[in-house]
Amino acid sequence: MSIMDSLKAKAKADKKTIVLPESMDKRTFAAAEQILKEGIANLVIIGTPEEIAENSKGYDITGATIVDPFTDPNRQKYIDKFVELRSKKGVTPESAEEMMTKDYMYYACLMCKCGDADGAVSGACHSTGNTIRPALQLLKTKPGISSVSGFFLMEVPDCEFGDNGLFVFADCAVNTDIDSAKLAEIAGLSAESFKMFTGGEPRVAMLSYSSKGSAKHDDVTKVAEAVKIAHEKFPDIELDGELQLDAALVPEVGELKAPDSKVAGHANTLVFPSLEAGNIGYKLVQRLAKAEAYGPVLQGLSMPVNDLSRGCFAEDIVGVVAMTAVQAQLAGK
Ligand code: ACO
Repeated sequence: MSIMDSLKAKAKADKKTIVLPESMDKRTFAAAEQILKEGIANLVIIGTPEEIAENSKGYDITGATIVDPFTDPNRQKYIDKFVELRSKKGVTPESAEEMMTKDYMYYACLMCKCGDADGAVSGACHSTGNTIRPALQLLKTKPGISSVSGFFLMEVPDCEFGDNGLFVFADCAVNTDIDSAKLAEIAGLSAESFKMFTGGEPRVAMLSYSSKGSAKHDDVTKVAEAVKIAHEKFPDIELDGELQLDAALVPEVGELKAPDSKVAGHANTLVFPSLEAGNIGYKLVQRLAKAEAYGPVLQGLSMPVNDLSRGCFAEDIVGVVAMTAVQAQLAGK
């Protein structure tokens, strides 16, 4: 069974309610038809009757709950919640109403915040920044977490590394400025994500262009410092660094470059030292090794909200909804 088939099965076993705010995009409805048919999640689609009628033509979305943000009986509740959460940032009832009806992602996050949905998926026709900003502003991080980050679940075909080709790569999507403390936090969250999505035990490599002091530079010190912080914060996680990618993945190289490391040569969770490295790294593996790259999945938010690539297919939306539903099952546990 592929990892996605097992995630869909997990999602079906305890169905969650996921909001799809992009009713202006036909792919939302193609995905919704499949999600409902397969029973992966209960769906709420936000849109006006005109948007729904125009873009759902040809798709059977019987069973989805349609919420018109202009006439929804819960609208005032969401405006009040928006003002409660953001009045210090200058949000008034008027501006709340305008933001919620111009950008349905705000509406979707407010539904989650008020307990009317378990998670949201957007980004087929919105940038990453515009997709995740409402979630950062309204849902905020989990207790004890300072930064949300984004990982990809990578499934590399015919691969003997990682867990038979399964990996978590992070941060590939969110944090433009990463210091040692943030890297350590990303390591802890990524280990949790690996376990949540694969069921396997994470082995976390903190990546660099140096292995165990083979090079000296502030960039190397940043990662080495992150390893120290992570060991103190998460003593139970198998984690090591700084490691070059080959030392992290290939047993013979790991043995040579970091002989005392339990992680070197066996890593399945790769924490990149910067967003550039993470973003370029996952795309290299996706394109050159023809790997499946599921994500970016956000980790560290108080409730699951996930982004899509603007080049996504309906099938990709189905996959991200399944992953969001699995995160929702475990939220708060
Ligand atoms: N974790 C938690 N909260 C955050 C984070 C974070 N990583 N980043 C910002 N916030 C909070 C801020 O504290 C702020 O809260 P407040 O309004 O209550 O004070 C709120 O989010 C908005 O923050 P800003 O800094 O004003 O938001 P901005 O829009 O500038 O930045 C964003 C946030 C969108 C995540 C930005 O960091 C970004 O654009 N990152 C890169 C995204 C990207 O382009 N990724 C690559 C493409 S994805 C791909 O290829 C798969």
